[in-house]
Amino acid sequence: MSKDEKFIITVKSNTKDLYAFTKLVSERKKRIEKASTEPITSDPINDLARRLHPERQFLVINEIRDETKSTKTFRLIPDPDSSTKELAYFRAGQYVSLKVEVNGVNITRPYSISSSPDDALRGFYEITIKKEKSGFLTNFIWDNWKIGTKIESSGPEGYFYYEPLRDFKKIVGIAGGSGITPFRSLIKHIIDKKLDINLTLLYGSSEEDDIIFYQEFKGFEKKLLNQIKIVHILSCETISLKGCEQGFITADIIKKYCEADNSSFFICGPQVMYNFIEKELKKFNLPQKRIRREAFGEIKDIAKFPDFPQGIANSTLKIKVQIGGIVKEIPAISTESVLVALERANIAPPSKCRSGECGFCRSLLVSGSIYVSPISDWRREADRKYNFFHPCGSYPVSDLEMSVPRKVN
Ligand SMILES: Cc1cc2nc3c(=O)[nH]c(=O)nc-3n(C[C@H](O)[C@H](O)[C@H](O)COP(=O)(O)OP(=O)(O)OC[C@H]3O[C@@H](n4cnc5c(N)ncnc54)[C@H](O)[C@@H]3O)c2cc1C
Ligand code: FES
Repeated sequence: MSKDEKFIITVKSNTKDLYAFTKLVSERKKRIEKASTEPITSDPINDLARRLHPERQFLVINEIRDETKSTKTFRLIPDPDSSTKELAYFRAGQYVSLKVEVNGVNITRPYSISSSPDDALRGFYEITIKKEKSGFLTNFIWDNWKIGTKIESSGPEGYFYYEPLRDFKKIVGIAGGSGITPFRSLIKHIIDKKLDINLTLLYGSSEEDDIIFYQEFKGFEKKLLNQIKIVHILSCETISLKGCEQGFITADIIKKYCEADNSSFFICGPQVMYNFIEKELKKFNLPQKRIRREAFGEIKDIAKFPDFPQGIANSTLKIKVQIGGIVKEIPAISTESVLVALERANIAPPSKCRSGECGFCRSLLVSGSIYVSPISDWRREADRKYNFFHPCGSYPVSDLEMSVPRKVN
């Protein structure tokens, strides 16, 4: 069909429409005869899909801002020397997975985009990173990243976003530490698009100095009066900041500031916060579909799970890996995920969420035993049956033999 031709469907009645089908083949033939014989060279549908979901984006840092003593925001723009000419649009709350080489090892780490989706159209993403005490990547970032550093990322990923067809207009956001980043994106999105959403954000930090975006969020509250409320909850003993709560985000705090019965809950923070909040939220008897949780990444203290096999924490094991036509034997530690063992040996499959959720690192377990914690077990039933597993959420508890079916990261 040419651009100028209109395709009109008129619904007449069931019988007439059914009768119209009898002419379908002859109509199609006529159109084919009329059509140009030139081969079609453009593929607009796939072009759009690639723009929205690029496999890779090549970026460069063009601004760095200190947020707190241990947190920085990095503004990323398309690398002008690369094939990335524009940034993929996203939904507020999604993350990008960065692929970085650290001392000869290729690793990935997911980071929520803290800027708004419209900022991507303006030409930049922002990510806000907290330096971890002995963090493998974050220490490298603090020592090495500067303006002009080139970075490779995935397209936007993840399911932690507001969906008007599913979610209530009233949102309770529960954030801990660097888990505040997707909420910055959401608030900026509400401002950009003048969305009719009410957000009460309960934000837990250790102490005043650790609060990320404090001043900026005060400005958001002023701008969106009666639409956004931010409550700071500090776990330290002495607090000088006015109007904040002391302790943790409990059911009582939720009751004090929010209408739990007609709100959707969005939770993002460290794993300890999830464990605590889960128990508090149970007191409201909310249906699961009203609670959205961001993926929490790799589990730090896997040996603390009650069903983690006794007596094998920190054991050194072996993994025989079939990859392409090659077989390699690599060392592994029972308390580090199989993905980390593969990364140390530079033979890791692609990975994005590092939480067992996206399925990108999916591999085949040929023999041996793994421990998969209940909170990161997102395998499909068929995968479970046929021994496919997600190395990012699985821990070796015996020597293993496995096969990495996809190309190495
Ligand atoms: C969806 C999602 C969004 C996130 N968003 C944010 C955000 O907005 N801001 C933020 O600050 N954080 C965010 N995070 C957390 C972030 O992805 C990182 O986990 C965090 O920055 C810490 O990274 P790190 O490497 O410094 O520390 P860790 O991840 O704790 O690094 C230690 C890890 O490195 C491994 N390791 C050690 N040595 C080696 C080696 N030689 N080779 C390979 N691996 C090794 C260790 O086994 C361990 O697993 C997010 C996480 C998820 C899941
Ligand atoms: S990286 Fe997402 S499931 Fe492993």
